[in-house]
Amino acid sequence: MSRFSYVNGRFLPHAQASISIDDRGFLFGDAIYEVWSVRHGHLLDSEGHFERLKRSLGELRIPMPIGVPALRLVIGELLRRNRVDEGLVYLEISRGAARRDHVFPPAGTRPTLVMTAKRVDFAAADARAERGIGVISLPDQRWGRCDIKTVNLLPNVLAKQAAREAGAFEAWQVDDEGFVTEGASSNAWIVTAEGVLVTRPADHAILHGITRATILRLARDAGYDVEERGFTLDEAHGAREAFITSATTFVTPVVRIDDRPVGNGAPGSLGSLLRETYLAAQ
Ligand code: PDD
Repeated sequence: MSRFSYVNGRFLPHAQASISIDDRGFLFGDAIYEVWSVRHGHLLDSEGHFERLKRSLGELRIPMPIGVPALRLVIGELLRRNRVDEGLVYLEISRGAARRDHVFPPAGTRPTLVMTAKRVDFAAADARAERGIGVISLPDQRWGRCDIKTVNLLPNVLAKQAAREAGAFEAWQVDDEGFVTEGASSNAWIVTAEGVLVTRPADHAILHGITRATILRLARDAGYDVEERGFTLDEAHGAREAFITSATTFVTPVVRIDDRPVGNGAPGSLGSLLRETYLAAQ
């Protein structure tokens, strides 16, 4: 079955979908993106991702190329054409194509809008969550506005690769004060010995995860104690549980940090419960 992608108003066979080599996303990383999971044909947390998309564009002063209702229609058509019932949607918007110059291009330059969809068999992700994952830690080498979902992901790419080469699934980045910021592509959480859920506040050092926000709400609604504050690797090593959240991993327990087990070394019950609750709430 052929795969279709969307580029600036047109659905094209994926292999023929292309953008200009003058595109500022390619030249400068001057672009933002979003990722949605699709389950049973529906976008998970759809509203939150659209809100963050608008915020990312606003922070970078890139105009929204088409409105959210139109974007929803395009995504629906993309899912239909690719027959995606379970999978992922990727959207990227750059400041457009223009003769290379660091300053913004002339007013009226059309932003580039690209969307792709792919099928994913979430069974592998479920199995990973059953087993739990290992994470490594490394210094956070990123810039000061990680709250904007830009495609400037080189430190994240290097961190993730380092994790893979160490036999781990994710890399927890640590700031200059010794506090964990977040994973290369997920937010980081622990559950203290007293059963308190802890995750870093949504400051400029982390991406304001949409899954994170939903889990915070679900956990508070269920009566769990939640603290939005930084935690160190030492605290994480002594925690009862740890887990990550993201649109692609939902909630996935962490059972090992830098070759030391978390808690009893098995996926924690609260993380596993929150995963079930999150998926059931969608
Ligand atoms: N990544 N932190 C970072 C650095 C991320 O890249 C992501 C998501 C998250 C979690 O955010 P959310 O819950 O909104 O997915 C946190 C996506 C999945 C990606 O880059 O593929």
